[in-house]
Amino acid sequence: MTQRTFCGDFRSRHLGQMVQLCGWVQTNRDHGGVIFLDVRDRSGLMQVVAHPDTPETHALAHSLRQQDVIQVMGEVIARSADTVNPKLPTGAVEIKASSISVLNRSETPPFLVEDDCDAGEQHRLQYRYLDLRRAPMQANMALRHKVTHAARNYLDAQGFLEIETPILNKSTPEGARDYLVPSRTHPGAFFALPQSPQIFKQLLMVAGMERYYQIARCFRDEDLRADRQPEFTQVDLEMSFVSQDGVMALTEGLIGAMLEAGLGVKPHMPFERITYHEAITRFGLDRPDMRFALEHVDVTELMKQVEFKVFRAPADSGGLVKVLRVPRGSELTRRQIDDYTDFVGIYGAKGLAWIKVNDVNDIPAGLQSPIVKFLPGDVLRSLLAACDAENGDVLFFGAGDAKVVNDALGHLRVKIGLDMGLIMEGEHNFVWVVDFPMFAWSEEDKRLEALHHPFTSPVPEDMDMLDSEPLAMRSQAYDLVWNGTEIGGGSIRIHDQKTQSRVFSALSITSEEAEAKFGFLLEALKYGAPPHGGLAFGLDRILALMIGAESIRDVIAFPKTQKAADVMCQSPSAVADDQLKELGLRLRRTAIDKA
Ligand code: AMO
Ligand code: AMP
Repeated sequence: MTQRTFCGDFRSRHLGQMVQLCGWVQTNRDHGGVIFLDVRDRSGLMQVVAHPDTPETHALAHSLRQQDVIQVMGEVIARSADTVNPKLPTGAVEIKASSISVLNRSETPPFLVEDDCDAGEQHRLQYRYLDLRRAPMQANMALRHKVTHAARNYLDAQGFLEIETPILNKSTPEGARDYLVPSRTHPGAFFALPQSPQIFKQLLMVAGMERYYQIARCFRDEDLRADRQPEFTQVDLEMSFVSQDGVMALTEGLIGAMLEAGLGVKPHMPFERITYHEAITRFGLDRPDMRFALEHVDVTELMKQVEFKVFRAPADSGGLVKVLRVPRGSELTRRQIDDYTDFVGIYGAKGLAWIKVNDVNDIPAGLQSPIVKFLPGDVLRSLLAACDAENGDVLFFGAGDAKVVNDALGHLRVKIGLDMGLIMEGEHNFVWVVDFPMFAWSEEDKRLEALHHPFTSPVPEDMDMLDSEPLAMRSQAYDLVWNGTEIGGGSIRIHDQKTQSRVFSALSITSEEAEAKFGFLLEALKYGAPPHGGLAFGLDRILALMIGAESIRDVIAFPKTQKAADVMCQSPSAVADDQLKELGLRLRRTAIDKA
């Protein structure tokens, strides 16, 4: 029998050949006797014609409906000039069907399986197998394969071994809640699903594997957003005898290979670097989008001289007053400014004072603002000079707690950048954020917490500050940011057991607790652990950025919803009493009733 040709592969060179194709009926049009079928498989779309002069085939074609699965035998012929479709790779030819067999019928799908699908996402997720049958989703899956393959090839060429680490795990602290799995053989005890392979990859370095990687599934029970899933994939790697620069250089090559495979572009290397402190000062966020300017200006000192409480109070009490100068911002309407005020509210800002600069040389008359009357002329002049203000600008102010101000003005900067079209289409900006603080203060728990994770090595010369000034310590951690999204992060690790114990204790992890949670790691560090470090990329985020998807759900075959559920399989779901009993578990009625 004739071998199958994929629908998308037919070209003029096939003219005159007898061929076989298989696929799904996309459309069925009856043009006064002649029936045109569009048949699709993963490779593309092909037009099949059934003529009344083959009555059986014609009758069958007539009965076909969207998404029926068929096999067609026929001859490749040229399309008539008026039906040539230059937009379609197969658009010059068609198949004149000699026979059609129905391999399977389809019921009417719950939504149209077409490129532009207006079905709601819940619906698409419930029938994900139909959603995935659409060409854009098939392209996304193919892209995922291609990019993952490129990562594997690159790392293989660099001497990395792909090694799998356990999914039934002990808790790995990456800052999220664990997904727990009860053990039947150890009643009352639980495994945790890995938040990352972090500890195992370090143990692989102790084991002398030198260079490890894994396309690793990670599980984190955290509040979901468009770029977060409870189950996601990392390109995870670890290297021995390596410096921070070494990891960064290698992973730049890796990202380059992934981008080339996925987008056909080579990013400019080496990537820019910025310290955490500078990123926060200039852009308010530790993942700055540096495709456009609009930098923050700190005017806290200046505001110590004014009476206006909104600015003076934070300036006097360790807070921050910052300005975001927006060139041409005076074109913004009152309505837009009100929208921005609401927007910064999301990040906890109590307001968004503003000044429209009509004439820098006419102070205060040349300034339009609800707050100018509260600020003396010399302060206004210093303010305009500090911001390099020009006619036509608008200045937005954030005043209050440093974190709130940075967050609010940081996100506002990105929003205005997008709204005002300051970002050039197709521009790629990669930047490393380095010199992260080692610790942050958790107001909630009243203790230090690790900014990256507790296995991250401090910058050696900062180690002296561990007892006196831990918040001033820097770590050897680095994040890679692509167009304002954090796509990866890593660090040089602590390979010395004593340092690891001291860091645990700085984090208020008692030695008993450290022993219970990480005793095996501390033990391993005693037996010749080499210096090592690594990084993990968020594969889903990288793919979503490549195609400009709003959510990483579009690049995951079977993602969870915003509420961490699978609406197709209806999971999570209840289990039988017997299963619970076997696991030694009993449900608390009150918790279920509340949910
Ligand atoms: P980190 O926690 O920074 O580091 O994670 C690495 C990268 O994984 C991606 N990511 C996510 N993607 C989708 N959904 C999520 N819920 C999610 N959480 C994280 C991000 C992030 O940059 N073990 C360390 C790495 C190391 O030190 O080597 C780690 O997991 O793109
Ligand atoms: P009020 O004194 O609250 O009427 O505020 C006067 C102006 O300051 C208004 O434009 C407010 O939006 C703005 N404002 C109030 N609180 C803040 C703040 N924390 N940061 C920046 N602007 C603020």
